[in-house]
Amino acid sequence: MVEILIPEAEIHARVAELGRQIEADYQGKPLTIVAILTGSLILLADLIRTIQIPLRVALIQASSYKGATTTAGVLIINESFAPDVSGRDVLLLDDILDTGHTLATLVRRMADRGALSVRTAVLLQKVGRQEVKIEPDYRGFTIPDKFVVGYGLDYDDDYRHLPYVGVLNLEP
Ligand code: IMP
Ligand code: MG
Repeated sequence: MVEILIPEAEIHARVAELGRQIEADYQGKPLTIVAILTGSLILLADLIRTIQIPLRVALIQASSYKGATTTAGVLIINESFAPDVSGRDVLLLDDILDTGHTLATLVRRMADRGALSVRTAVLLQKVGRQEVKIEPDYRGFTIPDKFVVGYGLDYDDDYRHLPYVGVLNLEP
């Protein structure tokens, strides 16, 4: 059962605000938005359509959850579609900041690959879960420590298509 935490309209309003901030901050800069697959897919599609300055889009795959579990495992990064970010201002985009390991690792990777600057944007940040010191530069919402699905976020690869963010109740 999924209980709605953030309704669709609220997400869209907030994503548009983030888009306006990003647009203002990256005027005249060589912006590349690097979306972390698969969770940020919906956010990417909605966000970039609110940004009216030139930008490139690139994809990186990272996964730390294996199958039907809600605890993170080993972080696996697949850079086969990774862009050339040398000389670019990179904005890493993820669905949620949980422990912080994914974003912290990818920030280092982008810097190693020669990015001019690296910032981070997330739709959600969970409170009381962070193990790595990293503050997102752009954040949609802060949420309680619950396992959420929808708007790109999955449980065992299901639920990504829900238009809202909801709390997954795994009790029968
Ligand atoms: P971190 O490395 O612990 O910050 O994990 C971030 C990644 O874990 C995100 O990109 C999500 O894919 C996944 N994740 C963390 N919390 C949730 C959740 O509540 N629902 C679904 N996926 C989550
Ligand atoms: Mg993810």
